[in-house]
Amino acid sequence: MTLKIGVIGTGAIGQDHARRITQSLSGATVVAVTDIHPQQAQEVVQKLGLNATVYANGHDLIAAADVEAVLVTSWGPTHEEFVLAAIARGKPVFCEKPLAVTAEGCMRIVQAEVEHGKRLVQVGFMRPYDKGYRALKNVIDSDQIGAPLIVHCAHRNPSVGDGYTTDMAITDTVIHEIDVLRWLLDDDYASVQVVYPKKTRNASSHLADPQIILMETAKGVRIDVEVFVNCQYGYDIQCEVVGETGIARLPEPSAVPMRSQARNSVAILTDWKQRFIDAYDVELQGFIDAVRQGEVGGPSAWDGYAAAVTADACVLAQKTGDIVPVRMAPRPAFYGR
Ligand SMILES: NC(=O)c1ccc[n+]([C@@H]2O[C@H](COP(=O)([O-])OP(=O)(O)OC[C@H]3O[C@@H](n4cnc5c(N)ncnc54)[C@H](O)[C@@H]3O)[C@@H](O)[C@H]2O)c1
Repeated sequence: MTLKIGVIGTGAIGQDHARRITQSLSGATVVAVTDIHPQQAQEVVQKLGLNATVYANGHDLIAAADVEAVLVTSWGPTHEEFVLAAIARGKPVFCEKPLAVTAEGCMRIVQAEVEHGKRLVQVGFMRPYDKGYRALKNVIDSDQIGAPLIVHCAHRNPSVGDGYTTDMAITDTVIHEIDVLRWLLDDDYASVQVVYPKKTRNASSHLADPQIILMETAKGVRIDVEVFVNCQYGYDIQCEVVGETGIARLPEPSAVPMRSQARNSVAILTDWKQRFIDAYDVELQGFIDAVRQGEVGGPSAWDGYAAAVTADACVLAQKTGDIVPVRMAPRPAFYGR
């Protein structure tokens, strides 16, 4: 049976996911949409040729009898109330990151889900669905490089707008490394620190860029993440794991090596959407398939909470320059290990 989905927030990623469900994925259909700009929601219905009702607000959409699962793709500060409303009605919900804008908000969702007694929430962290990260995890889990000791990462964007602030390097950018490295290493963070190299002249006056985020995990793995959002040359994601007996690197996205004009070159992507386009498809198809089978999997509300606690610690570390402990509540048995 086709899963009937309601989409809250028809902005960039909401439209993208609605298109995905309608044109690329199988087993689901969009039957309801809403946005605080109803005109835009209506336009999305027309543009994508959806057979969907436009609701006045997210709560009416969640309550609608024919909405079997909910996609929350509105602005971050609105996520918590919609996820809680979906849980209250026992409806599975895929929520784009962040799960909530505070760790306390994430914890309220964790508690509501635990009380419900069954997983309903998948958070939209897509990197664990990327083919390259999966291959890297497979190398680690099959003990081909021994126990991981050090991880070197880089997250580089060509440029950012003037509205991008120093803390967004954590909350919007490194948040993806925070999530994927926990998953990759099957570990939690113990402490974090942020150090600032010489600033690029291509960053706006209020932005510290680049930054280096240093993290230590509970098992003692040391991680460095270079975040450089005005690197000019491309969108570049690097990850190298140093293990006891070998080193494994995240594969580069495939591109045609070219010999031309006295150069031997490979193109580098410039758009983050291109880099993870397949991962978005796989994560959402995973949600649809799981819900149809009566089980929600993927990044959990607990993972959303862990990311929020770690991001808070990183933002504090940005301000103080200190090594900041990452203090998480005890993990409910509900989420396994
Ligand atoms: N996983 C990823 O890589 C990824 C990528 C992009 C965006 N996101 C996340 O997705 C969310 C949306 O990002 P975006 O780039 O699409 O933003 P956007 O501004 O393009 O779209 C958000 C939409 O939500 C609507 N909206 C806001 N409050 C609402 C409410 N109360 N009810 C209904 N609609 C409401 C806005 O009008 C807007 O159309 C953000 O949380 C962002 O962090 C995640």
